[in-house]
Amino acid sequence: MTDREILIEVTSLKKSYPVTNDTRLEVLKGIYLNILKEEIVAIVGKSGAGKSTLLHILGTLDKPESGKVLFESEDVFLKKEKQIAEFRSRKIGFIFQFHHLLPEFTAIENVMIPSMISGTMDKARAEEVLTEVGLKNRLQHKPSELSGGEAQRVAIARALINSPKLVLADEPTGNLDSENADAVIDLIFDLRKKYKQTFVIVTHNEEFANKCDRIIKLHDGKVVQ
Ligand SMILES: Nc1ncnc2c1ncn2[C@@H]1O[C@H](COP(=O)(O)OP(=O)(O)O)[C@@H](O)[C@H]1O
Ligand SMILES: [Mg+2]
Repeated sequence: MTDREILIEVTSLKKSYPVTNDTRLEVLKGIYLNILKEEIVAIVGKSGAGKSTLLHILGTLDKPESGKVLFESEDVFLKKEKQIAEFRSRKIGFIFQFHHLLPEFTAIENVMIPSMISGTMDKARAEEVLTEVGLKNRLQHKPSELSGGEAQRVAIARALINSPKLVLADEPTGNLDSENADAVIDLIFDLRKKYKQTFVIVTHNEEFANKCDRIIKLHDGKVVQ
């Protein structure tokens, strides 16, 4: 057991998508879960189980149909659109399976993008986070000039630039060989230790999931043990 505080509390979360005019696909059918501060949680489940949908809602990229997401006891979706966007850019970092770096921009420019959005635009900080992920000597490289593992680490640096409390990752090692995957996993654990960040990670990598503090399994739209 732990006496760590709760960062996120999800209750009765539901989400469906329209399939035809009068039928909907129910993806999340009443999700209840807590994420503790500084926890590294793996979300697992079969393809189509709703893992990405849940992650997107936790990250306020998508809205639930019903139910609540409390972030530090505050009901996120009660905020106005603009406040939600502000909340997202300050508190949440995203890492995806494919790095989604902008091809025309250098590593350091890609990393600076979230700080431009939040209005802090800090080149020194971008250099610092790239150094943190081991890419001090790749600042001026474009994505096409980086290896897959390096590009993913640039994407991690981009997720970290605003020092988010919560980092959401959707299959961050899904596109990497085992060596690069291990480097990303080690990096995530180092970051938690150093910056006390919380990570929620969708993964198919069993070894990774087993290393996490906790595994949350989704099946048929619900959390199962
Ligand atoms: N925007 C959308 N519109 C319609 N259906 C969607 C949409 N996003 C996801 N789905 C469907 O919802 C289900 C769950 O998707 P997803 O959350 O991506 O699952 P997972 O990440 O676990 O593989 C899938 O059947 C998918 O096809
Ligand atoms: Mg997915």
